Amino acid sequence: MRTLTFEEVKKHNSDDDLWIVIDSKVFDLSNFADLHPGGPNVLYAEGVAGRDATDAFFGLHRHEVLLRPQYARLQIGVIEGGVENIRAPAPGSLSRVPYAEPSWLSEGFLSPYYSNNHRAFQRTVRKFFEEVVRPEAIKCEENGKRISQEVVDRMSDVEIIAMRLGPGKHLQGRTLMGGIVKPEEFDYFHELILNTELSRFGTRGFVDGMLNGAVIGLPPIWNYGSPELQARIIPQVLSGKKYLALAITEAFAGSDVSGLQTTAVRVGDHWIITGTKKWITNGTFADYFTTGCKTDKGLTVILIERGEGVSTKPIKTAYSSTAGTAYVVFDKVRVPVSNTLGEIGNGLSVILSNFNHERWMVTGCSVGAQRVIVEECLKWANQRIVFGKPLSSQAVIRNKLGKMIMRIEACQNWLEIVTHQMNNMTYNEMSSKMAGQIGLLKQFVSRCGRETAEDATQIFGGRALTVTGMGKLVENYHRTSGYDAILAGAEDVLGDLGVRQAMKKMPKDALL
Ligand SMILES: Cc1cc2nc3c(=O)[nH]c(=O)nc-3n(C[C@H](O)[C@H](O)[C@H](O)COP(=O)(O)OP(=O)(O)OC[C@H]3O[C@@H](n4cnc5c(N)ncnc54)[C@H](O)[C@@H]3O)c2cc1C
Ligand code: HEM
Repeated sequence: MRTLTFEEVKKHNSDDDLWIVIDSKVFDLSNFADLHPGGPNVLYAEGVAGRDATDAFFGLHRHEVLLRPQYARLQIGVIEGGVENIRAPAPGSLSRVPYAEPSWLSEGFLSPYYSNNHRAFQRTVRKFFEEVVRPEAIKCEENGKRISQEVVDRMSDVEIIAMRLGPGKHLQGRTLMGGIVKPEEFDYFHELILNTELSRFGTRGFVDGMLNGAVIGLPPIWNYGSPELQARIIPQVLSGKKYLALAITEAFAGSDVSGLQTTAVRVGDHWIITGTKKWITNGTFADYFTTGCKTDKGLTVILIERGEGVSTKPIKTAYSSTAGTAYVVFDKVRVPVSNTLGEIGNGLSVILSNFNHERWMVTGCSVGAQRVIVEECLKWANQRIVFGKPLSSQAVIRNKLGKMIMRIEACQNWLEIVTHQMNNMTYNEMSSKMAGQIGLLKQFVSRCGRETAEDATQIFGGRALTVTGMGKLVENYHRTSGYDAILAGAEDVLGDLGVRQAMKKMPKDALL
């Protein structure tokens, strides 16, 4: 790379001969100027053409623009004696922006919950997600295609699909994240790390497209499926060779699960299943559906395989169709009775016991995404100059930032204590003791997320409504934060569940 002086750069400031300096790097924009998305004029302006345009550039572009190969190759040299100040963080590194990381990852802070193993795990996971998953997430969020088999294979090589189902015997004998954590050491904090890390890219549709159907649809199989069914289905799903979806909701019934109308009629050793399911995540590409059905003995959960009588079509929603959200039609589908999950008529408890983990998982993903938005806003408020001063010099903006920080810290801390309880309870204890609290937690986190999305939108202004550029993460978050409030149980219903559960446990003699 050539070493150039400002004297030399200055000479290149006219049509067809345009150099500029950004952070000590010299770019030849002569051929690019007419293609520049912001137009050529801004590049020929005084103080830009042939000059150091670092401040102007970073006021208008994300750093990643300079790293894209098509733009990186415009660099022809470096300024003599110049120092590159703005470096892309190394993959896996932690942010140095205050509150951009939870306190357990911040230098000089302690936590009662996390060990050095969690810290090492977090570093490895973040690096993996940034290097392997992030490019795929950005591509799929935009083109709406499902996650590629290649990336699924890379995730299953390090057992991410298995780990996303939490601690348990399904991890035995597996090499987790290259061996960084032993299967018997893996706990809910490791899983929480996975959930917060995977949602950091401003790609909410992809978060669900990253095989969330399996995360929510597989537990009923291993908790209630026959040994034969488990032996056949679980390895295929955990290795990412087959896809699974949880099919409960219908146009007829969502919050009110008991109102399902998909019907399974028993004929000998088979069920004949007819009905429809709506908004089924990963449904467009699922091979199996863990399905809530009505039978003459009551609600029953049955595993349906894609085949004759099963059809799916995409539902267009506000987030990317990479999530594979589907309308599913079952038309007289023949399913062996051995595919029944749990007792016939006991479907409600199969479905309800599955919800705690799902809701806790959604909460973790939501917290991961929310924290990145806090970081985006702190950076933007610091760098955006309005009325001649940084945005952060406005008390109204600082007030919004303060509230964002309070919300994310409150969410994080509540989530961690809930995770700690889960780590020290059996599955059944968790169901009886934690369902209400997880419901309330999820409501709190998703409400906070929506308030933060609103505040972030004000802080970013028009850029918050623009899909590309400076505000792209805020735009995605603002458009999709409502998902956390509806999926896995609507916010209001969960808050109400929490209070009803508390009321049930009120001591009879607790009077004023
Ligand atoms: C993108 C997407 C993906 C989804 N993925 C799946 C999936 O993979 N599998 C699956 O089975 N389902 C899935 N769902 C369905 C989701 O779980 C339901 O949308 C959700 O449970 C709410 O049900 P509903 O939309 O039918 O709302 P309804 O039950 O019609 O309720 C409407 C609103 O009324 C309010 N409400 C309802 N009952 C009460 C009450 N008792 N107290 C107070 N307020 C109340 C709530 O605010 C609720 O939002 C998905 C939905 C979406 C949008
Ligand atoms: C290597 C040099 C540069 C490259 C590769 C580059 C590239 C880009 C790209 C990709 C965009 C689209 C915005 C996005 O989606 O992120 C953009 C927009 C823009 N650029 Fe540049 N740019 C360069 C230098 C500059 C400089 C020096 C200025 C100086 C003023 C400038 C002014 C603008 C403006 C005003 C916009 C529109 C921003 C908006 O819509 O908010 N660019 N540029």
